[in-house]
Amino acid sequence: MKVKIITVIISALLIFSVFSCGSTQTATTAGNARQQPQIQPLKIIYQDYFPIGNIIKDNYMRGEYLDLLIEHFNYATAENSMKPSGLGPRERGGEYNWAPADRMVDLMLNNDIAIHGHTLVWHNQTHAWMTEGSPEVVRQNMISYINAVLAHYKGRVFSWDVVNEAVIDGINPGEQNWRNCLRPSGWYQAMGADYIDLAFRTARAADPDVLLFYNDYNLNNPRKATMVRDMVRDLNERYRAEGHDRNLIEVIGMQAHYSTSVSISNVRAALDMFREIGVSVAITELDVETRTVGGANSGTGRDSFATDTEQRIQALTYANLFQLFKEYSDLIIRVSFWGMDDELSWKSFGNPCLWDSNLEPKQAFFAVADPEGTLNR
Ligand code: G3I
Repeated sequence: MKVKIITVIISALLIFSVFSCGSTQTATTAGNARQQPQIQPLKIIYQDYFPIGNIIKDNYMRGEYLDLLIEHFNYATAENSMKPSGLGPRERGGEYNWAPADRMVDLMLNNDIAIHGHTLVWHNQTHAWMTEGSPEVVRQNMISYINAVLAHYKGRVFSWDVVNEAVIDGINPGEQNWRNCLRPSGWYQAMGADYIDLAFRTARAADPDVLLFYNDYNLNNPRKATMVRDMVRDLNERYRAEGHDRNLIEVIGMQAHYSTSVSISNVRAALDMFREIGVSVAITELDVETRTVGGANSGTGRDSFATDTEQRIQALTYANLFQLFKEYSDLIIRVSFWGMDDELSWKSFGNPCLWDSNLEPKQAFFAVADPEGTLNR
């Protein structure tokens, strides 16, 4: 499975480089790049392990941000523009909003950066009309949305988060049935647990060349990881029992929004659990807060800061994680960060990124570049 998926990714990157010949923007031609330390790009350091990704958003489409993105990363995920609220019509029957995301996709592909699609079916950032109406109307809304998006991006986007964050937190000890652990989203309320299977089958039928992901956070929590594993295993077993020779859900995306207290052994346990059921894993949204600042959007701004000790502990956490990811590189098909710099991160006050608000590389950057050296120092 991993070999096949890696082949698809490498072919995609080769195709992009052929088509982008002559239009590639390099780190030295865009913006006024500050002198970055003489260190190999992360995508080169990890080229024998997995592609390395980051997000793309408006602020990252020019200047030093773009330079860094092109220099270090070979995969990109749109932070917001390819979500249903970004692409989907504002009202039933309205126009799709392709242009902002298309600009990002074109810019990335022209710079040999492959695109991961995020996300098709989610409880958040989804226009209200999509989950309103009778179960049949909601079902048709979902099918036509997935069909439209996959048709539009055919040949340009090679993998998609089909369903995002369907499983709840706070699962009871001893829970045996993943169907009891689904978030009561509009999709769930209309269709029950079956919406997940339907979303993946619709995506598969719409474009069989696309790799299909189930993506979620807190999979370092053993109970949540267990329910996700059971769900993916059950849906895949049912699909294969019908005679299909590949999985319906091919990749589990571990978002990996962590703090420095993340248990590395819990992350390892989740990787082991997912390996058991024959899927691949991608680390899809990695960031490590220096301190826990609470929920989403806990602030943005240049007043983000961290003490030297906090930065050191953060660097060690990143080093431990990358040592683990390397060890599991036969299973892990990509590691993507959720932001380059602390200022523009969704969790700015947690200082979670590899570059600071001035785009200076942090200890965290050097830890990712050389995990073993960092841990042995
Ligand atoms: O687009 C509006 C803009 O028109 C308005 O002026 C502005 C005022 O606040 O808000 C803008 O929307 C914000 C949007 O980001 C774009 O910047 C939303 O308020 C804000 O909630 C939204 O936050 C995003 C969040 O998902 C929403 O759930 C973050 O940028 C994005 O990083 C975050 O990404 C998620 C992944 O998709 C799934 N996994 C968790 C991850 C972190 O929450």
